[in-house]
Amino acid sequence: MAIIKVGKDDLRGRDMAMSELKEYFSALSARKGREITYNVRTYGCQLNESDSEKLSGMLEQMGLTEVTGEASSDIIIFNTCAVRENAEDRLFGNLGIVKADKKSDRDKIIAVCGCMTKVPENVEKIKKSFPYVDLVFDPQQLHLFPIYLRDAIGKKKQLVNISSEDYIVDDSLVPIMRKRKFRALVPIMYGCNNFCTYCIVPYARGRERSRDIAEITDELNKLASEGYKEVMLLGQNVNSYKGLNGERFPEVLKAAAEIKGFNRIRFMSSHPKDVSDEIVEIMSSYSNIETHLHLPLQSGSDRILKIMNRPYNREDYLKTAHYFRDIVPGGAISTDIIVGFPGETEEDFKGTLEVVKECAFDSAFTFQYSKRPGTKAASMEDQVPHDVVTERFGRLLELQNDLAFKSNQAKVGKTEEILIEGQSSTAPDILTGRTLSNHLVNFTIPDELKDPSKTADDYEGMLCDVEFTHARPYSVDGKMVRLK
Ligand code: SAH
Ligand code: SF4
Ligand code: F3S
Repeated sequence: MAIIKVGKDDLRGRDMAMSELKEYFSALSARKGREITYNVRTYGCQLNESDSEKLSGMLEQMGLTEVTGEASSDIIIFNTCAVRENAEDRLFGNLGIVKADKKSDRDKIIAVCGCMTKVPENVEKIKKSFPYVDLVFDPQQLHLFPIYLRDAIGKKKQLVNISSEDYIVDDSLVPIMRKRKFRALVPIMYGCNNFCTYCIVPYARGRERSRDIAEITDELNKLASEGYKEVMLLGQNVNSYKGLNGERFPEVLKAAAEIKGFNRIRFMSSHPKDVSDEIVEIMSSYSNIETHLHLPLQSGSDRILKIMNRPYNREDYLKTAHYFRDIVPGGAISTDIIVGFPGETEEDFKGTLEVVKECAFDSAFTFQYSKRPGTKAASMEDQVPHDVVTERFGRLLELQNDLAFKSNQAKVGKTEEILIEGQSSTAPDILTGRTLSNHLVNFTIPDELKDPSKTADDYEGMLCDVEFTHARPYSVDGKMVRLK
């Protein structure tokens, strides 16, 4: 499969569609006597989130106004995820709900994009059971969305556009509306070549392709000058980055850290096979790179890792984790673990528990294995019975919850810098933010530091020192001691 580079000239048709749509929506707005609105619903990972920011950016440029949450709007886009079955079920449930909505307003447009569209069974189901969906397009063709939208509005029948090519687009040519005013999601590579036997991502996202390093640094410089405090470098395997002239991830990481203005450089998701000592050393030598490493383990059994097609063993993994703990004091490791991969025995599972204990993960995303159509593992014979999976999952959760709590307890009594993310969702007078090690912190502002002219929103993106007073299972409580 070819990888096609997309530049300015290739986007003229898209630009034309955007201006035609701008006129169309302006006329629609005059006819309806109100603003024309859109709503992008994101189901997946940060790359999916980043795609949603681009869809929003294009729609904003066509003069539309965003409504958030699950509110109804003139254009509803479902940006889907296919990584596990429950993400797919959520989409089908929600598509059912918007049917009445669509019936009540024939100008309404419902679109489905994202990773689910690369699974042929899903597209068939949408065609058959949800004929009122106007438009289906895949994530590789996000940059052409305005063309598809224009055609769907003109056609009034379901339009399906799924490509068999992979594109690498100059992202500076795609308008973007960032969700958070302090955090910029910056994809540096797309796709995956690893074909772990359980995983749909290589089918959904195509082959690995990296952005030009000059294009990335231009974007980062622009973001710094716009006042962004946090940058999140993204990729399905971010540290497998390979630039046009052979540049590797350490160069991108260093380049980001050296740009003045960023207080936090984060990156997701790193593949254990490509976490070199050099990356860990760079993390320890720049004070603005997070002291947090996401290191997906998947399983602690060498036998299972092999069948999963993960190219490392338990010993390699532990070596990386220990090196990180030695070189980055106070750092945190998070992980992803799958329970119940086909053929997993009690002994294999115990291997996972042992690695979890030895690494003392600060946090973990734990998943029950979900059969994905078209993957190698889906046709493996020895699928683990559901009750065995849930029982093991419970044991893993119990162990990991205890470790996460201990990690939070170790913070109590210390004072660290927090990047404020906004108001806590549970109490209006509590702010929430993260440490450099990515620990979630909820904290109060003592009276003497309160500024009556500021609302909670004004604090978003500011830095402060917080003294930690109390540990909870998934967060730490504290009080602000200094606003920076
Ligand atoms: N590229 C990253 C992970 C991306 S997918 C990596 O290799 O580390 C995010 C996580 O979803 C994976 O780490 C894995 O733990 C989980 N996952 C992927 N496919 C799954 C499946 N079929 N069932 C359950 N969990 C799965
Ligand atoms: Fe999926 Fe493996 Fe690729 Fe990660 S590395 S996205 S788990 S195939
Ligand atoms: Fe899901 Fe696609 Fe991300 S399958 S996890 S949205 S790459």
